Amino acid sequence: MSIATLHSLRSVQLQVPTLTESTDFYSEVWGLSVVEQDHDDTWLRGTGENHHVLQLTRAARNGLGAISFAVRTPAEVDEAARRLALRGIPMLTEPGALDQAGGGYGIRFADPEGRVIELVADVHAVKPLDRDRPVPIGVTHVVLNTVDIDRAVAFYTDVLGMRVSDWSEHQMAFLRCNTDHHSIAFNQAAWTSVNHVAYEMPSMDHFMRGIGSLKQQGVTPLWGPGRHGPGNNTFSYFADPAGLVCEYTSDVAQVVEDQWLCKVWRRVPELSDLWGTAGPPSKDVRSHMAGIEDVGVFADRPDLAAAYASTPARDLVEVAR
Ligand SMILES: [Fe+2]
Repeated sequence: MSIATLHSLRSVQLQVPTLTESTDFYSEVWGLSVVEQDHDDTWLRGTGENHHVLQLTRAARNGLGAISFAVRTPAEVDEAARRLALRGIPMLTEPGALDQAGGGYGIRFADPEGRVIELVADVHAVKPLDRDRPVPIGVTHVVLNTVDIDRAVAFYTDVLGMRVSDWSEHQMAFLRCNTDHHSIAFNQAAWTSVNHVAYEMPSMDHFMRGIGSLKQQGVTPLWGPGRHGPGNNTFSYFADPAGLVCEYTSDVAQVVEDQWLCKVWRRVPELSDLWGTAGPPSKDVRSHMAGIEDVGVFADRPDLAAAYASTPARDLVEVAR
């Protein structure tokens, strides 16, 4: 039994050495709005119903701060904590009120590669904003580079209850927690890092107008526009001031549970770029997507790293049921 039923990907925290420039980029160019700010953090929202979708945190180098998933109720947070304890997975933060913008009641724990996962309920509600403008609704998926894709998929499916929607050979795995084809995807890589964060545009028209708006501001895609095979979503990838990759996307495939057939896609240009508009990814975009090695919370908690390292993949996700 998984520890919780994830409702959605709510927000992402990114650590950046360029807080001022990154804040300016995401608020003045990318189309998010600043909702709160202090010396070391900026919280930004899209037009959707989430209090914030991106938290930028001042740091010495790029990194993933946390991935936050919404669950329905505080009681589900408490139950997730109980189940984590049964599995012997240590919590970084016990269930309780979160001391952050937007509040909420949540827990935090690490995945096997040191990424911080947050489950949260009761974050402050906000009214949706005007969706005519070509700006993002919110974050729709995060792609993560992993050194062990099978272990990552095992953890996110067994512990977090995500489902595999598709594979791209044995190189990428697309995982969902709701009807969206993927909220998380893993990419087998030489080191652990964030590959990119994708922001949902309300329609393909918004998607193209958003790309046009960026172009008029001198920001051109690293790769795209195009449409991927797995997930069927449109894509256009850009580099932010920290060198992290951000994506405008739209039209992600909607999955009907029990009717979806997971398949293994071949990694050929005509399937990663259905329209033939983007061409193959350049060395430059692949370098940005590889990022820099990020051991996450393991940098401060070598004890957790050692515990995970000494545990075979399946043992880690087996429960004392
Ligand atoms: Fe993407």
